[in-house]
Amino acid sequence: MTSAPEGSAGTGSATGTGAGSGAGTGAGSGAGTGAGSGAAGGTDAAARVFGLDGRVAIVTGASSGLGVAVARALASFGARVAVVARRLDKLTELAKEIDGLPVACDLSDLAAVRRVVPAVVEGLGAPEILVNGAGSMFTYERAESEPVEDSRRTIDLNLLAPFLLSQDVFPHMVAAGRGTIINVSSISGKVGIPGIPQASYAASKAGLSGLTSELAVQWARHSIRVNTVAPGFFRSEITGPLYSSERSIEYLRRNTPLPKEGTAEDIVGAVLWLAGDAGSYVTGQTIVVDGGWTAR
Ligand SMILES: NC(=O)c1ccc[n+]([C@@H]2O[C@H](COP(=O)([O-])OP(=O)(O)OC[C@H]3O[C@@H](n4cnc5c(N)ncnc54)[C@H](OP(=O)(O)O)[C@@H]3O)[C@@H](O)[C@H]2O)c1
Repeated sequence: MTSAPEGSAGTGSATGTGAGSGAGTGAGSGAGTGAGSGAAGGTDAAARVFGLDGRVAIVTGASSGLGVAVARALASFGARVAVVARRLDKLTELAKEIDGLPVACDLSDLAAVRRVVPAVVEGLGAPEILVNGAGSMFTYERAESEPVEDSRRTIDLNLLAPFLLSQDVFPHMVAAGRGTIINVSSISGKVGIPGIPQASYAASKAGLSGLTSELAVQWARHSIRVNTVAPGFFRSEITGPLYSSERSIEYLRRNTPLPKEGTAEDIVGAVLWLAGDAGSYVTGQTIVVDGGWTAR
């Protein structure tokens, strides 16, 4: 695996600029149309439990990989989606497509993280869905020699930023009388992965599961649900190098019981279930989506 590029786009600040336009007008129209096709295509019951009409969602890590797929899916079921990451060009392109709101932010800068939710509230309204999808690895050193600075950055981005964003959406979800937070961890938060050293990454992802059950219990009385989706392996920027070698692809194949390669779309189903009323009695859980990797 490799870390996502650390560009300077939007460093240190959530830009409210892209926000304005996509936000106000975009809300109902584009998203609503897609919603119709996604939800109304099924039975009434399916439309009811998966429909997200009018709900404001925040998806971090939405400039590539899983976050893009999740943002598109939430919008197609009717949500108005704020897309957050560092690369404003990619966010702007996606926001245009789904009639959403681009918010550029370096989420490893915890002061900047605090500006995300206010920018979303101003641009789209109060969030009822938060998907903490952004994540990265900063070191591939073996555990005994991981530089502490890399460990700290990993924990800031992968664990503290989701926690801070959860704190910031909390009052809005309380006011709405409902809300759902979905963290994206990894199977490495559950099992060791031989051959791919990732100690602090694994710790940060396991931390998300602990945070999930604690927030779920504390915030259940406000009807705020908190869950985590733990993906196995799928192709994206972060796993680019892994999929560039036939040897490592074969390693992944050998260790995955289901006879197919995982994709971002495989994760989207779990996120949609947890985001909507379909998952309304599910909280505090870590749902593993890994083709059976951890079942062996
Ligand atoms: N792919 C897998 O096999 C796999 C397996 C287990 C878990 N996961 C987890 O799934 C999530 C999505 O990963 P992916 O596979 O879709 O990887 P990806 O394609 O590399 O996407 C990572 C996303 O996180 C954003 N990001 C990274 N650093 C950031 C920062 N400092 N501030 C703001 N945004 C930042 C990136 O955007 P910018 O670069 O524009 O900032 C990008 O949108 C991550 O949490 C990852 O740990 C992935």
